[in-house]
Order: sequence, then C-alpha cells, then structure tokens
Amino acid sequence: MCGIVGYNGNLDAKEILLKGLEKLEYRGYDSAGIAVHNEEGITIFKEKGRIADLRTTVDSEVEAHIGIGHTRWATHGVPNRLNAHPHQSASGRFTLVHNGVIENYHLLQKAYLKGIPMQSDTDTEVIVQLVDLFSKEGLSTVEAFRKTLRLVHGSYALALLDHEDAETIYVAKNKSPLLVGVGDTFNVVASDAMAMLQVTDQFIELHDKEVVIVKKDSVEISTLDGRVVERKPFKAELDASDIEKGTYPHYMLKEMDEQPSVVRKIIQQYEQQEELAIDEDILQAITEADRIYIIAAGTSYHAGLVGKEYFEKMAGIPVEVHISSEFGYNMPILSEKPLFIFISQSGETADSRQVLVKITEMGHPTLTVTNVAGSTLSRESDYTLLLHAGPEIAVASTKAYVAQVAVLAIAAYVTGKARGVALDFDMKQELGLAANAIQSIVDAKDVMEEIAEDYLKIARNAFFIGRNIDFCVALEGALKLKEISYIQAEGFAGGELKHGTIALIEEGTPVFALVTQEQVALNIRGNVKEVVARGANACIIAMEGLEEDGDTLIIPRVHPLLTPLVSVVPLQLISYYAALHRRCDVDKPRNLAKSVTVE
Ligand code: F6R
Repeated sequence: MCGIVGYNGNLDAKEILLKGLEKLEYRGYDSAGIAVHNEEGITIFKEKGRIADLRTTVDSEVEAHIGIGHTRWATHGVPNRLNAHPHQSASGRFTLVHNGVIENYHLLQKAYLKGIPMQSDTDTEVIVQLVDLFSKEGLSTVEAFRKTLRLVHGSYALALLDHEDAETIYVAKNKSPLLVGVGDTFNVVASDAMAMLQVTDQFIELHDKEVVIVKKDSVEISTLDGRVVERKPFKAELDASDIEKGTYPHYMLKEMDEQPSVVRKIIQQYEQQEELAIDEDILQAITEADRIYIIAAGTSYHAGLVGKEYFEKMAGIPVEVHISSEFGYNMPILSEKPLFIFISQSGETADSRQVLVKITEMGHPTLTVTNVAGSTLSRESDYTLLLHAGPEIAVASTKAYVAQVAVLAIAAYVTGKARGVALDFDMKQELGLAANAIQSIVDAKDVMEEIAEDYLKIARNAFFIGRNIDFCVALEGALKLKEISYIQAEGFAGGELKHGTIALIEEGTPVFALVTQEQVALNIRGNVKEVVARGANACIIAMEGLEEDGDTLIIPRVHPLLTPLVSVVPLQLISYYAALHRRCDVDKPRNLAKSVTVE
C-alpha cells in the first residue's frame, strides 16, 4: 500500500528518496513521486507506473539535500500522474505526501476551501490546501498543520515541505504507520524501516496524533496540543541482506524456499530447556479464556482457521474466527472471558487494527501474532507472539502463512499441556519432521512446474477442494492462485461443490483435491469422482499412507494436525509457476498491496 519516505541531511536527497521508494515497492503501488527542496524552491517529479518510470523523469541536474517521496496505491481517484503524490497547495507554498484516507475531506472542502481550484481527485489535496489557508490567516506552519489535523477525520501518515523553510520536514501520523529514522548528520522519515535501512537502523516510533519537526540535526515530537514528547530510538532488527533477492528471480520463490528454515527457527525461538514454551503471561491469558476470537484478513484469516482447529483440538478451548473487516458490524455475542488473537504478517492491517481498537476500549485481553516486532498491532495489543519469518517482501504471503500456522500450533500445544490435555505426541519433533517434509517439496520444484503446466496453462478457472483441515488449505491455495496468476479460483469444502458450484465444472476444469486426513479421505475421493464424471481435470495431492494409484503428487507423511504446513507448499509453487507461464508480475500482482493500511 502507499509508502512514504523523507530525507533531511547533506547527501543527494533524490537518490536516497528513490532508493527508499524502491524498497517500498513490494507494498504495492500504481504511481510514485518525490519533491525536493533547494534554494530555487520545491521541485516535484511524479509519474504513473513504476519507480523505474519515475526515475526517467527525475532531472539529475537538480541538487537538493531535503525532500519527501511517496508510492501511491489509489483509493480516491484513478492511478494517474495528476493524482500521484506529492500534492501542492494552490499557492505553491506547501507540498505534501499522505498515506491513509481522509474520511471528511468533502465536508472540509465545502466548509473551508470553496473557490480554491483542486488539481486532483484525491482526499490528500484538502490537507495541503488547508495548511496553506491557515498559514495565510497568520498561523505558523506547525500551528497551521496542527489546526488542519484537528479538523481531519481518518487515517494519515504525512510529510510536508514548506517553500519558505528549506530546513524542515513536518510529519504527523494517525492510524497509518510512520517512523522517523535518526543519524548523526541527517534524519529521515519512512513508513517502513526497510526503506531507510540504507542510511540508518535507528528509528523513533511515532504515536497517533503526534506532530514531528524533522530537521537535519534534530527531531522534535509533540502532541496536537503542542506538548513536547521525549522518545528514544530503537534499533530495527533487520538485516539489509534479508530484504535482497540475491540470485532468486522473485522474492516469492526465495520466501517459499525459506519455509523449512523458518519452521526450524520457530522451533528454536519457542524452545526453553528443550521444551516448547511461550511467555508465561501469554500462556496465562490463553488458559484463562473461555473462548478465543481470532481476527484476521486474507491469508492470515486462513491461518486463523487452522488455528481454530489447533486450539480446539489441542487445548480444548472453543474458538471463533472472524474476518476483520466484517467484525466491526457483525460482532457476535461475546463470552464472559474472551481472548482476542489478531493474526497479521505486517501488523499494520487497518481492518484488523480497527477491531483491536474497539476490543481494547471494551477492556478485553488481546494477543497479536505477527512477523513485525514493533508494528502497530503488536504495540497496541497486550501480548505479542512473533513469527520470526524474516521480512516477507512478495505481496503473496507464503512463509508468513507457514510461520503463523507453526506458531499457532506451538501456542495451542503448550496451552493444551498446561491445561492437562492428554497430547500423546511431541510437537517439537513433529514440527521438525514437517520442516523436512516442506524441504522435500521445495526441492521438487520441477514437479510443481509440470503440474502448473499440465493443469493451468490454458485454464480460465480452477477449484481447490478439501475436507476438515484440508478445506482451510484449499481456501489458501485458491487465494494464492488467483492473486498472482489472475486465474479465477475458489476453495471449497469437498462436500459443498455439489450444492451448486459443480454446475461450473466442464471439460478440462482443473480441480485440486487435498487428501491428508484419514477420516475424510474416502469422502474427498468421492467428491473427486463427482467432478471427474463431469469432465474435471483432477489433480490429487495426497499424503503418504493415504495415496492411491493415479494420484498426482504424494507429499511426505506428517502429524495429521500439521498437514497444512506441508500441503500448502505445492499449492504455492503451482500458483507461482502458473503465474510465470502467464508472464504475470509475481512479486507485485496488479491492484494488490502488501500492507493494507486503509479500511
Ligand atoms: C495474500 C496476502 C493477504 C494478507 C492480508 C492480511 O497473499 O498476503 O491476503 O494476508 O492482506 O495481511 P496481514 O497478514 O499483514 O494482516
């Protein structure tokens, strides 16, 4: 989703901003721009399309040491040059980049900006025009900025330049992520530390409704009412090499390959005295709950569905799983002692965060399972379990899903043990075996490539079916395929197809069927027969021990509860190769953003 960078120092601002924006490309965007400030004034370069397109428009002759930049993922107004950020006020004095959504921009425009011609269709432009208006009324820039922010409803991360002050970037945030990075002779702004690791690993976290004055040698944080806030920087625990592709053609391929080591790392991270363990406070919070409510979106929601199986089967705690964007309107009647678990790779998903805010106001305990320490969801919930998957750059989530499932398995297992549930297996050992099984699948990429070719080369649509825990994985398999290859794909509970959707099966329709659960193996094979009888091209992925002649792929045997860790991997790889065949931009699928920071 949108990304912001800013630089104030002694080096070439253009290059640092462009490099920073390149590091944010993975979040998804459709236009980009930078504004730099020197003695001649503020110069804006912006373009629809990729940073590479923007680079071609940037005049190398312009020298500047301060500037702001932005990647835009269109919300208000189509993706074009005009709507790309930065935006400038009508007088040309103020220049602004913005992430988030200003909900009352129409009202503000009507109330304050009648007669001021708008250059774009964006909500953002209202902010920069208001700052200009209030400064014309005699307020200082920071006061005009604060006055504007007091009027604005919605989410924002903002960086503002003032033509009359070539030494300052004004920054503010509410609900959208933003960090200030600090250095000896410079300071920077970034919506994600990754963007500015090129110059610093020291960052200051900003809280909602704070305003920051970023000079090259100082950073002053204050609240909207002007109270100064002191906050120390933290070290971003990111290795610049973690965010490089190395020799891989795509991040997605690299990240799928990392999955065995991610599972092994998780085992290590959650091991204490040779036993799996989670923080005592977290364990207590889970064991005290009479019901768990899992809140998540997309792939993380699919991991949550698996998590429900784990907490119910291993810990004996009832679980509900909810799509975060729906929960606000459809809040169920809560139990007496609920625990809310938020699952989010990025820890920034606005849909999940709005639920967290509501639940925190209601006073219920909250736990976030995330890949990003220090992310908004992690900071704002009572407890955090980290995924330790390393940065996930490809828009399509792969290793984070596997990490989510593994961490949920550990949390449920440890809770079950603490509650005295008889669990007759060693989770640590079983996870180790699952890591080996994943390894054997990622080592057999040629097989997945062939399956993609055989089943999906000319497909218009595809179905993924499974029963029980395989159904959860079928949903994830379908999401992976559609998001990166644009083949219409649906995941179904095997028994459900015949209640309507089987009407869509015709000669050659690909149907991927998962057979990893012994108690439903015959039933799902029955569903396969139903679709094959109607012409489907069935790809059966069965677990060792449950295979039959003619199955397409046999995956190694693992504990029945841990099959999602393994069976998802061929589906990820098949989707990847299907997308490659169609020459899709695997790492940056159209219309998608990595971190969805608007509701
Ligand atoms: C799909 C995908 C998305 C995310 C969803 C939630 O591959 O990555 O469906 O899972 O946008 O994001 P997080 O997990 O960051 O909350």
